Amino acid sequence: MKVAGEWLRPLRVAAAGDAVVVIDQRLLPHRLAFETLATPQAVHHAIREMVVRGAPLIGATAAYGLALALKTDASDSAVEAQAAWLKAARPTAVNLAWALDRMVRHVRARPVPARAAAAWALAGHIAEEDVDVNRRIGEHGLPLLREIAARRGVDPGRPLNVLTHCNAGWLATVDWGTATSPIYQAHEAGLPLHVWVDETRPRNQGASLTAWELGQAGVPHTLIADNAGGHLMQHGQVDLVIVGCDRVTARGDACNKIGTYLKALAAFDNGVPFYVAMPTSTLDLAVSDGLAEIPIEERRSREVTHLAGLAESGQVIEVAIAPAGTPAANPAFDVTPARLVTALITERGVVAAEERALRALMAQTL
Ligand code: MRU
Repeated sequence: MKVAGEWLRPLRVAAAGDAVVVIDQRLLPHRLAFETLATPQAVHHAIREMVVRGAPLIGATAAYGLALALKTDASDSAVEAQAAWLKAARPTAVNLAWALDRMVRHVRARPVPARAAAAWALAGHIAEEDVDVNRRIGEHGLPLLREIAARRGVDPGRPLNVLTHCNAGWLATVDWGTATSPIYQAHEAGLPLHVWVDETRPRNQGASLTAWELGQAGVPHTLIADNAGGHLMQHGQVDLVIVGCDRVTARGDACNKIGTYLKALAAFDNGVPFYVAMPTSTLDLAVSDGLAEIPIEERRSREVTHLAGLAESGQVIEVAIAPAGTPAANPAFDVTPARLVTALITERGVVAAEERALRALMAQTL
C-alpha cells in the first residue's frame, strides 16, 4: 500500500539481501520506523514482542527467521530445533506453524549445503504468495459488499457501513490485508463505504493500526470504543462485519483477537452478516472444536492496566489506568463458534463455515 505517496510493505528484504526490514508496529501511529532483522534471535524477538504481528505477517517473517538460522547450521537437528523455537514465539495463529512446517519440509528434502539458499528463496515465495492470496480474498469479497450495498441502496451521503475489529489490514500481512482487502478494493472501485474501527483493547490495534492505514488509503472511517459496536448494530448503522482470523478449525470455528466473539453475538442478534476473511493458510483441519483445542495466548497484565499514547509534549508515554497492583487477566484471542459466522472469505472463494464445505474447498485442485 502507499504511505505518503510511497509504496511500502511491512516486511521486505534489506538491500544487501542478508536481512529483512520490518515496520516496528509498536510505534504506530505516532512514528513510522523500521527495524532490520538480521538474525533468528531478532526475528523471534520481533514476533514475541509484536514488532510484527498479524497471523500472515508473523508466518512470513518466521520463514525468513528460519532461513537466517540455516546460514549458521542447516543440519536436520538444527532445522527442527530452530523451527520449534520460532513456532513457540506466539501460540495462537496457525500461520506461524504453517509457514515453518512448509519451510522444514522444503529444506529437509535438500542436501545440507543447499538448504540456506533454498530456505531464503522459499521465504520470499511465501511472502509474495501472501500478497496474491490477500488480493484474491478482496476479489471474492468485493461482490459480497456490492450485493449488500445494492440491497440496501448506497450513495456518498449514505455509504455502506462495515465494522472491523483489531487490525487484519495490510500491516498484518505482506500487503492488502485480509479483512481490509475487500474494503480497499471496494473503495478503489468507487463503492461509497465507511468503516467503523473497533479500538481493540487492550493493545488498541484498531485505533493505532487500522485507523492509520485506512487514513493513509483515504478510506472513510470512524474509530469507536469496543463497546459501541452492539449499539450501532441495534440502530441499523452496521451493514456487515468483516474480521480477520488467527486459526479456523475444520468445523468453521474462528479464533481471532479478543472481543471478536462479542461482535459476532451482537451481529447475530441484529441480523448483521458476519464475515471472516481467511487465507487458507489459517485453516487448521487438524483441529475441530475451537474452544477446547486452540491454545489462547495469555499476555502480560500490564497491557490491561496501562495505556500508551502520545502526550501533548510529543513524547509517547505509558500511563496507569488501574490502581497499582490490580490483578489483570489478558487472554489475547477468543473463539467465535461457526454458527455465528455467515461465511468465510478465502482466496479460493466464499465458503460456509462448516466442515464439509471447508474440506471440499481444500480438496479443489488449483
Ligand atoms: O495480536 P495480533 O495483533 O497479532 O492479532 C491480530 C489479529 O487477531 C488479526 O485479526 C489476525 O491475525 C488476522 S490478520 C490478517
